[in-house]
Amino acid sequence: MPKHFITIRDLGDDAMKLVLRAAEMKKNNFRCDRLQGKILVLLFEKASTRTRLSFETAVRRLGGQTVFMTPQESQLGRSEPLKDTARVISRYNDGMIVRTFGQSKLEQLMEYGSIPVVNALTDEGHPCQIMRDMLTMYERRPDISTMRIAWIGDGNNMANSFIEAATIFGFTLSLACPEGYDPEPALLAQARQAGAKVYLHRDPAAAVEGAHFVHTDVWASMGQEEEQHARLVAFKGFRVDDRLMRLAAPGAKFMHCLPAHRGEEVTEDVLEGPAAILFDQAENRLHMQMAILEWIYS
Ligand code: CP
Ligand code: NVA
Repeated sequence: MPKHFITIRDLGDDAMKLVLRAAEMKKNNFRCDRLQGKILVLLFEKASTRTRLSFETAVRRLGGQTVFMTPQESQLGRSEPLKDTARVISRYNDGMIVRTFGQSKLEQLMEYGSIPVVNALTDEGHPCQIMRDMLTMYERRPDISTMRIAWIGDGNNMANSFIEAATIFGFTLSLACPEGYDPEPALLAQARQAGAKVYLHRDPAAAVEGAHFVHTDVWASMGQEEEQHARLVAFKGFRVDDRLMRLAAPGAKFMHCLPAHRGEEVTEDVLEGPAAILFDQAENRLHMQMAILEWIYS
């Protein structure tokens, strides 16, 4: 059976090991030939800078090769079913790294394909990104269980994966989302049932109180462009600015998965200010993808 990485839950007890492994790989500027002879497909239905570049680079640093594929340039864009594409790719390649819309598409790829599938972002989750954030926060605060993390804004794919991470890593997660933009209720319920310290607020000030790390993300994710205007209205009051950062713990860091919409979910001052650790986050995509790939092909 191929090993997949679809949600942070897939990692189970290995989640913390991956953070430590990625930190070690970063320290040693790690390269090896573990993926030698392997050719992985990156199937991307949405735009990407960091995820594509870091995965392409990570595969090469591990000795493998990649093929990049989009619906626009393949028969997928002319309605060839995903289940046929999954079977074709599985005859040629050794893994699929997929950025798409509904998570059900990943399930189809796993069902009809016979090679590992990696979630490189869906509407429902962004687990590689959150694992990378775990590494970035661990570097500053190794005692993960005492970490207090605030999530301000949309209860989107990032927020969903954060909730799963809170269950596994044991940190405190306080989310502030406007009504109607909550994270996936089933995930919240599961996390609470598992005893995770996950709290949902309507007031950003309540969520950032005592936070060591303040995270936000765009108000309209990829695929929600038509909702942009309604979301600008709904998220008024959820912008991360200096005033909000001052309510967090002293020395709190500001984090954003990027790309950011300056002046919307975060002010230019915060984004370019001393609390922001955005490019350490971006760099860590590479190290964490290497650890994830090593885990899959071990
Ligand atoms: N953060 C992130 O996933 O960035 P890209 O959309 O550029 O891949
Ligand atoms: N929530 C954003 C994350 C981008 C990395 C989106 O899905 O567009």
